[in-house]
Amino acid sequence: MDLKELQTLAKQEQAILNAPCIRCCTVGGCIAAHALEVKQQIEVAIATQPLTSPIQVRGVGCMGLCSRGPLVRLDPAGILYDQVTPDQAPALVQSFHASLQPNPLEDTPPIPPSPHSQPKSQSSTLPSPSPYQPQHHSFFTLQHPIVLENSGHIDPLSIKEYIAKDGYLALYQALYEMTPSEVVDQMTQSGLRGRGGGGYPTGLKWSTVAKMPPGQKYVICNGDEGDPGAFMDRSVLESDPHRVLEGMAIAAYAVGANQGYIYVRGEYPFAINHLQTAIRQARKQGLLGSQIFESPFDFRIDLRIGAGAFVCGEETALMASIEGKRGLPHPRPPYPAESGLWGCPTLINNVETFANIAPIIRNGAAWFAGIGTEQSNGTKVFSLAGKIQNTGLIEVPMGTSLRQIVEQMGGGVLNGTAKAVQTGGPSGGCIPAHAFDTPVDYESLTRLGSIMGSGGMIVMDQSTNMVDVARFFMEFCMEESCGKCIPCRAGTVQLHQLLTKIRNGQARLEELDQLNQLCEMVKQTSLCGLGQSAPNPVLSTLRFFKDEYLTLVQDLSPDDDGL
Ligand SMILES: Cc1cc2nc3c(=O)[nH]c(=O)nc-3n(C[C@H](O)[C@H](O)[C@H](O)COP(=O)(O)O)c2cc1C
Ligand code: SF4
Ligand code: FES
Repeated sequence: MDLKELQTLAKQEQAILNAPCIRCCTVGGCIAAHALEVKQQIEVAIATQPLTSPIQVRGVGCMGLCSRGPLVRLDPAGILYDQVTPDQAPALVQSFHASLQPNPLEDTPPIPPSPHSQPKSQSSTLPSPSPYQPQHHSFFTLQHPIVLENSGHIDPLSIKEYIAKDGYLALYQALYEMTPSEVVDQMTQSGLRGRGGGGYPTGLKWSTVAKMPPGQKYVICNGDEGDPGAFMDRSVLESDPHRVLEGMAIAAYAVGANQGYIYVRGEYPFAINHLQTAIRQARKQGLLGSQIFESPFDFRIDLRIGAGAFVCGEETALMASIEGKRGLPHPRPPYPAESGLWGCPTLINNVETFANIAPIIRNGAAWFAGIGTEQSNGTKVFSLAGKIQNTGLIEVPMGTSLRQIVEQMGGGVLNGTAKAVQTGGPSGGCIPAHAFDTPVDYESLTRLGSIMGSGGMIVMDQSTNMVDVARFFMEFCMEESCGKCIPCRAGTVQLHQLLTKIRNGQARLEELDQLNQLCEMVKQTSLCGLGQSAPNPVLSTLRFFKDEYLTLVQDLSPDDDGL
């Protein structure tokens, strides 16, 4: 494919994409809620009803409000329906068809009150539009989609639809209008930081790999996503797989690699399927493989499927796993940028990091650097979960406050008030409600003893016991510890036992000091990030919710010898 063919295809597809269409979310959470049956019944209704204007129906990626699926949107008006059932399909089609007629007011069937207030048996009538209209509801209006700009709009299984949204244009621009070092410079100037958790500057990482002597180099996309409660990367891979492939290809050109791997966990069958399809399509169009865009640049991508070990998300363990060895971390340095896969310089970035690359090349580094805060540029995707009204996937500019996310976008907690937000999964911490005005950026969250992490955000209400939270994450780390080094292998077990003792009201006050000391020891002496960060949830709950620990130990009578 050359530029002219790309542009012609884009134009043709844009006309099709902009036509009136019923869009059904047909990925992850919505599939679990029978979205495929809903789409099928909509197709049946279109085929069997007497319609005077053609109606398209399209399966698309995640629309964000995953917990209210299946979601269906009538475009271009953007009318959103949630929790749609297959038997509502005929009424939806009828209403949409009527709205396309010259005088929709006369023809539109009356809209009954919200289905949420009706008994289920009446659900075969037209559902009311969801109260979460994209144009009005703060769940949507406070978002700034860059990574998710195509999610919910295009069919993830169609390369043509991706191309219609300027897909692969950035790769063309990089190959024909920029030198590899100019691409690296753009990354540096954009201020993009790795979205996999650590926030390492992407430009710096790319330039380290680029500066290594020419020879075999690799690019790896880390799609292991093992944090409990996190589903951002899964959603990006399911909803817009070409975006990740394009980002990887641009990275490969910049650093001089010709082979890439996407490491994705086996529990993500739709992501795997969509990636396989996308790779096949891109190869067929000459956008991956040999002589991409008829240039001298070659780049292949292969998938590697993980078996669900949390530690395999750690970069050195991940590379060992790709090499066919047991997924065990090894000490750094050397860093993968110098000596990675099979000892060769390797660039490893997260799914969301790669998904940011194409828009940065298309719109320029200055555009990206203008979004977010001074030190944390761009946006961040979060999976908003827990005891909150609106759970799902959001993308907000860095610097958005936790209060905006929890209270405005999330609609507040289900019953009562919020107690804390957990960010960063097992490596992160709990931020108390009194600190909700904190802007979400790398530095602010670290100051509060938590981390940005890869984007899991779990809201807790007053009924949550914070010792339980700490114990839950410690249990997770204990089970996921690979056992290679003693501080983590034995330390997480000891910490879990101590937390259990405290939770059961069997611990003495001095054991809280022991807990603290053990946390510091495990943090400082563990070999990899899993052990080094495993104590974080304990330390942050000790910092902000010490009274909950004290209540449990103080209940113990000083004379009680039953320990
Ligand atoms: C225990 C552990 C698990 C990790 N899991 C992931 C993961 O699932 N996805 C990811 O991108 N990074 C994960 N990381 C971070 C990676 O080691 C690495 O820093 C990251 O992939 C680099 O990409 P980035 O610079 O784009 O953030 C994990 C780190 C540790 C210590
Ligand atoms: S810190 Fe834990 S997970 Fe990491 S190498 Fe040591 S035992 Fe394995
Ligand atoms: S999976 Fe359907 S809205 Fe997220």
